[in-house]
Amino acid sequence: MQQSGSDKHSRASGRSAMASAQCFLCLTVLLAGTAATAKAERSECLDNPPDMSQRGGEAGVIVNDLPGGFKGYVTGAASSSRAIVLASDVFGFEAPLLRQIADKVSEAGYFVVVPDFFNGDYLDSSKNISEWIKLHSPVKAAKDAKPLFAALKKEGKSIGLGGYCWGGKFSVEMGKTSDVKVVSISHPYIVTTDDMKEVKCPIEILGAQYDEVAPPKLVYQYVSVLRHRTEIPYYAKVFPGVAHGFACRYNTTHPFAVKTAEQALGLMIDWFDKYLK
Ligand SMILES: *[C@@H]1O[C@H](CO)[C@@H](O)[C@H](O)[C@H]1NC(C)=O
Ligand SMILES: *[C@@H]1O[C@H](CO)[C@@H](O)[C@H](O)[C@H]1NC(C)=O
Repeated sequence: MQQSGSDKHSRASGRSAMASAQCFLCLTVLLAGTAATAKAERSECLDNPPDMSQRGGEAGVIVNDLPGGFKGYVTGAASSSRAIVLASDVFGFEAPLLRQIADKVSEAGYFVVVPDFFNGDYLDSSKNISEWIKLHSPVKAAKDAKPLFAALKKEGKSIGLGGYCWGGKFSVEMGKTSDVKVVSISHPYIVTTDDMKEVKCPIEILGAQYDEVAPPKLVYQYVSVLRHRTEIPYYAKVFPGVAHGFACRYNTTHPFAVKTAEQALGLMIDWFDKYLK
């Protein structure tokens, strides 16, 4: 699936009328699916944990005292007028592949910050995700991160936000404020269709065919909200043949997984390039 707010072809496809007609049905399906996905979330968000042995060759540095009191990985030209904040999945900011993504985004001309929103308390299989998420609410984190975004703005930077899993929810929360100019989310966790009513900036959604946390059905529901909001550009794509985590926790020796993750990264950078001036 590929849908774009500015794509005449997809608009003409007649999906819009279909989506409205099925609205009631979708809601029922969503509610019925909640119990099943609650179980899937636990495992899928923890699938394919980062391989810390892949560390090395990082272009950036660790900063211990970002505004707001965060530790973070920082890469790219500090003089750039365009900043990207990357919000991690539950494994946090130490993941080697996430840092590689940050470096690649910086190569496109951005100053990139990957904050440690968990203060070192990452989720792992020994922890209960329901308990952990209470301690690390993405909604609360978006409020706590205000000073960081304010500081970047004060430096004259316009800010884009890329979020993975947990970071997807963080990103839509920030996207409801005027602090960010553009958002891209990949395999988001606990993002709702209501969130799509409140986001104020261009939003890109990158999903996966086999994602049970944000299944294609849910991505379609985000789109059916966004297509009625003509003031917000959006883009959504569901990548075939991959699962939750595909964009930042992929198998680096599997050519298809690598190619798909590279495409997702390319689309995210394109989205930032388009809307971050
Ligand atoms: C995880 O925490 C929730 C909420 O406190 C609780 O209901 C659930 O039983 C816990 N699950 C496990 C496997 O301990
Ligand atoms: C990664 O991909 C390689 C090559 O396809 C495969 O042999 C290996 O089992 C995969 N590793 C995991 C953890 O899935």
